[in-house]
Amino acid sequence: MCGIVGYIGDREATPIILEGLKKLEYRGYDSAGVAVLSNGKIELRRDSGKITHLETLLKEKPISGSPGIGHTRWATHGEPNERNSHPHVGYKGQVVIVHNGIVENYLELKDELMAEGIQFNSDTDTETIVHLIEINLDQGLSLEESVRNTLKRIKGAHGIVVLSTKEPEKIISARIGNAGGVVIGLGEGENFIASDIPAILEHTNRMVFLDSHQMAILEKDKLTVQTIEGQVLDYKVEIINLDPVSAVKGNYRHFMQKEIHEQVRSLTETMAGRIDFQHNSILIPTLNIDEVDFDQLKGIKIVACGTAWHAGQVGKYLIEEIAKIPVEVDIASEFRYRDPLVDKNHIILAISQSGETADTLAAMEEGRKKGARVWSIVNAIGSQAMRLTDGYISMQAGPEIGVASTKAFTAPLVDLYLLAVMMADKKGLLSAQERSQYIAEISKVPDLVGTCLDRENQVREIAAKYKDTEHMLYLGRGINMPIAYEGALKLKEISYIHAEAYPAGEMKHGPIALIDEDMPVMAILPHDQWYEKMISQVEQAKARGGKVIVVATDGDTLASSLADDVLWIPEAFWMVNPVVAVLPLQILAYHIAAMRGLDVDQPRNLAKSVTVE
Ligand code: F6R
Repeated sequence: MCGIVGYIGDREATPIILEGLKKLEYRGYDSAGVAVLSNGKIELRRDSGKITHLETLLKEKPISGSPGIGHTRWATHGEPNERNSHPHVGYKGQVVIVHNGIVENYLELKDELMAEGIQFNSDTDTETIVHLIEINLDQGLSLEESVRNTLKRIKGAHGIVVLSTKEPEKIISARIGNAGGVVIGLGEGENFIASDIPAILEHTNRMVFLDSHQMAILEKDKLTVQTIEGQVLDYKVEIINLDPVSAVKGNYRHFMQKEIHEQVRSLTETMAGRIDFQHNSILIPTLNIDEVDFDQLKGIKIVACGTAWHAGQVGKYLIEEIAKIPVEVDIASEFRYRDPLVDKNHIILAISQSGETADTLAAMEEGRKKGARVWSIVNAIGSQAMRLTDGYISMQAGPEIGVASTKAFTAPLVDLYLLAVMMADKKGLLSAQERSQYIAEISKVPDLVGTCLDRENQVREIAAKYKDTEHMLYLGRGINMPIAYEGALKLKEISYIHAEAYPAGEMKHGPIALIDEDMPVMAILPHDQWYEKMISQVEQAKARGGKVIVVATDGDTLASSLADDVLWIPEAFWMVNPVVAVLPLQILAYHIAAMRGLDVDQPRNLAKSVTVE
């Protein structure tokens, strides 16, 4: 949550920071600000609202100079208004800071600082940090020492970037815990800093990722990385082979629509290099699977949040069915607080698009503490969830900017399928013929997804019919039960329509009471082993006057005779159905939200990376 950008070099900092912030706006969009050292003074522009508002402000009152820092905010302490927007300046006007995280002991620190006569200009916890740095500077310490001393006083997880008029040739950044990433971009005679790669990728692809308890001192032609205690560290420069254009909206109206359409490519790339068609096998070298003793393995615990948790639910079906390994799927925020029964003979498998979700990272840590092997399936390159593992699968989805996750939902479904087949193979469960059959089925996915995308107009027509509904009930069974949950989540988060999901068999245990003409029912009804059971649910809903929309397989005349509307999907192997069935649900949610005139990519109250508890 919150996006941070910094620049030091001979160019004007403001446009670089502004462009970077635009690419990070998905991380929070309550308010935004920029601070630049201009003729030896800190110049600040900030306000509530989106980056476009800040852009207007900067056009009216430009700031010239370098270095500079910027911030886009998702409010935690203090409502989103001008005075609470970052950057924040110290009481003597010598230090300015942008911050991502929560100062857990800020009330205590604030009391202490106020007792010393320091006036607060905002309701934020961040202001305590900048004042503490200023006090240290005032006592004659260097900026570096002042930041170091301050970090020792504050509790919680943080990413900060600091500038000072006293040492204008430096930007200092630090990271403590998992409050979001800090990535440094190395240029020629200039350096960059950001919360995430896309913000600075157009300037350089040479990146250094800061770990927890590390501090970076950026000068225009030098980078020093140290521990918080001051020990200088070697750092690794990683070359990021991402296309900067993939983080741009192009001709699409919204990022979400673009990302839905990118799924043919992302799923092709998810398989490319992993499936060896010549030997009919699956290779994921980054997972280090040969280190696993499958004879001793008691089970896999999948930990994730939101959409990623839904992907994990599908993964349970795939892994148990194909690899015969018991799987439990936990909501990460619950796992960390329930003393789970995990030991060295378990694998913790985290799924995360951002690789920064605080609860997911904490669940991984919990698993590691208990001795488990920790794996992840993660999209954001260089994120904590990718780095703090014994093995990982990198989703090949590319940057996902729309807050509602789409391509980063289907990519892990394919990864989980490949993982299940690979583990089954390692356990000697598959004949060569079975292996090639599994591979043949998953290889059809990009085409099947392409067929669903070609039907966008049909889905849009159905969206127009339901755009004013106030409620929607999603039902699914078996491997498609999580798809009902995912469909409902997509609809509610971007259209603000109340949508609930249930395993269809649970209907008669309560939710059926909700059904009337004002509660449309969406039934996920592909041809699979749960088909007949789903048909009877549809009949029960119809019998109670409900309107029914179904996701049905091409040619299913029974489904179309029962339903009011049909979202057609092509025939697929049952284990592949979730990837296909979710497509029309993503498209439907997108068009309903767009028709309601809502901010599809930046829905209210949400942020893309949830780096706080
Ligand atoms: C919904 C959505 C969220 C995320 C969740 C976990 O569309 O995007 O539910 O799935 O916040 O985020 P990651 O995958 O980054 O850990």
